[in-house]
Amino acid sequence: MSVRSVFRASHSLPKGDSFAADVIAGLGAEPKSVPPKYFYDLAGSALFERITLLPEYYPTRCEIGILQDNAPAIASMFPPGCALIEFGSGSSRKARILLSAAATVEAYVPVDISGDFLQQDLAQLKRDLPHLTVHPLVEDFTKPFAIPGDLAGLPRVGFFPGSTIGNFEPHEAARFLRHIGAVLGPGSLLVVGIDLVKDEATLNRAYNDAEGVTAKFNLNLLARINRELGADFDIAAFEHRAFFNRAFSRIEMHLLSTRRQQVHINGVAIDFRAGETIHTENSYKYTIDSFRALARGSGWSPVEVFTDGMFSVHALRAE
Ligand code: SAH
Ligand code: AVI
Repeated sequence: MSVRSVFRASHSLPKGDSFAADVIAGLGAEPKSVPPKYFYDLAGSALFERITLLPEYYPTRCEIGILQDNAPAIASMFPPGCALIEFGSGSSRKARILLSAAATVEAYVPVDISGDFLQQDLAQLKRDLPHLTVHPLVEDFTKPFAIPGDLAGLPRVGFFPGSTIGNFEPHEAARFLRHIGAVLGPGSLLVVGIDLVKDEATLNRAYNDAEGVTAKFNLNLLARINRELGADFDIAAFEHRAFFNRAFSRIEMHLLSTRRQQVHINGVAIDFRAGETIHTENSYKYTIDSFRALARGSGWSPVEVFTDGMFSVHALRAE
């Protein structure tokens, strides 16, 4: 049976996305994995928002604090009349901090794969900043996308907060930084947030919260595969695992099969051994210097870094 022939339309994915094909390819491989961009259906995005409020998940609180403390300095680097393009905007909470400090920004272009979620908070943003043109794009930001015609001529500033760049393998992060350079153009500014390497206990706690919200976020991936692809995962037979892998400087998230079992997706049978995992996410942690080296090697010159010792926000200039 062809994967495409039974692919159920998803409400939230950009056109042309191949959820079914990617899931079947990832679960057919050894070791099994699913790309983390598929966490973010409406339920996944809402669970991520709950993660950002957890006492253990320090990155959001730290980055918001850094942005609030340094918004005027960051905004002073923006060219007048620019368009702020945000990659993986989620609730747009962090962009709001910069937009409130940068009165001359003419347009805000939030780009996110989670289409149903993207629209939710923008009406309030438009009410609060009536001079601003807001043009959301439901796109996979790793693929080419067009800036709307009436905004295409504005100078561009990129914003990539949340340490989402840490969800890429370092070589993919480098490729993605080059891609952003091509989208924004030579001489452009990019403001990017990245989580810092720190003690293992703090890192492990951030991805193993006591309330179990991160576990729900991870397991929602299987629920989504059941909902959208008609699969028959027994979600109770999988467990959340997250741990810091120091050799790779990354948190790894997995879903562990608690027993031997077979799952069916679009008529394709997938076998699991007891204890076998699906690798669902990496979250790479950098030092300020290792991130600057990555940026330099990808066509960006570091201009400034803002940090509280836990998290870092880098201002980079495209070469
Ligand atoms: N910027 C927000 C949200 C971070 S969560 C913050 O800092 O809190 C990561 C966001 O990136 C989610 O909203 C998710 O839907 C989006 N995302 C992940 N992979 C994506 C991709 N390939 N293309 C577009 N958006 C993506
Ligand atoms: C969006 N991304 C940077 C988050 C992270 O920390 O890697 C996603 C997340 N996964 C588990 N908790 C949060």
